[in-house]
Amino acid sequence: MKTFNTAGPSIPGDHYMLDPLARIDLTEIEALIDAKRYFVLHAPRQTGKTTALLALMHHLNAQGRYRALYCNIEAAQAARGNVHEGMAAIVNALASAASVYWRDEAAAQVARARLHEAGATDWVRATLEAWSRHSPRPIVLFLDEVDALVGDTLISLLRQIRAGYAQRPEAFPQTVVLSGVRDVRDYRIHSGGEIITGGSAFNIKAVSLRLSNFSRAECEALWQQHEAETGQRFDAAIYPELWADTEGQPWLVNALGHELT
Ligand SMILES: Nc1ncnc2c1ncn2[C@@H]1O[C@H](COP(=O)(O)OP(=O)(O)OP(=O)(O)O)[C@@H](O)[C@H]1O
Ligand SMILES: [Mg+2]
Repeated sequence: MKTFNTAGPSIPGDHYMLDPLARIDLTEIEALIDAKRYFVLHAPRQTGKTTALLALMHHLNAQGRYRALYCNIEAAQAARGNVHEGMAAIVNALASAASVYWRDEAAAQVARARLHEAGATDWVRATLEAWSRHSPRPIVLFLDEVDALVGDTLISLLRQIRAGYAQRPEAFPQTVVLSGVRDVRDYRIHSGGEIITGGSAFNIKAVSLRLSNFSRAECEALWQQHEAETGQRFDAAIYPELWADTEGQPWLVNALGHELT
């Protein structure tokens, strides 16, 4: 039986869901990827970014033109400004993503092998270069929770991506998407007493896409999935009040659905 999801990304089959690919401009995103552009997807907490990126990865992999990978790099947050620790956390996150989503232990090993080399400020770039050179299809990489990183760790990541950019797609990903709460432009990175803005550290970004809240019609469609599945009715008279309480905020829409049922 499906439920209203109140914790973590929504999973098709487990949760009542709106099609995550219908929430983003898929045509625009596919055009950006075809044009080898790098871009940002941002939205406030609990809007459905991770759910959408996972769906996009599965969609692209099913199409078969690209090799897409979702990777959450939040673990690097604990490293704060320690670049060596931060890059190790990111390389480990890439390795486990390759293992989980690609089931590619060789790729995971290529990433982990970096950790035994000197030069942590090049580990991520070198991993992505090696993966891209050996990949049967151009790689599309989604890096989620990028703005969990701070200071020199964030700068190092952005610089490594910028350094590899010119070699795409043969020796670097066709597209890298940075996802988080803020747009890179609004990252204010403190480094050695100086403040560097994300925009200057990542001036290869083509556009920033923003994920919005649900429309009224989408909210009602989601609540009605429960009606269709269980026969338990939502009295339509309650919709205006539910809208006033949630304004379409995706998590709240689910949480109220959960409470009411
Ligand atoms: N396609 C969807 N259909 C219905 N509900 C959704 C959908 N996507 C997200 N939600 C709701 O939003 C919540 C958060 O989803 P998700 O974790 O994908 O968001 P997020 O923007 O990545 O959040 P965070 O910023 O905390 O990482 C889910 O628990 C669910 O309640
Ligand atoms: Mg998320």
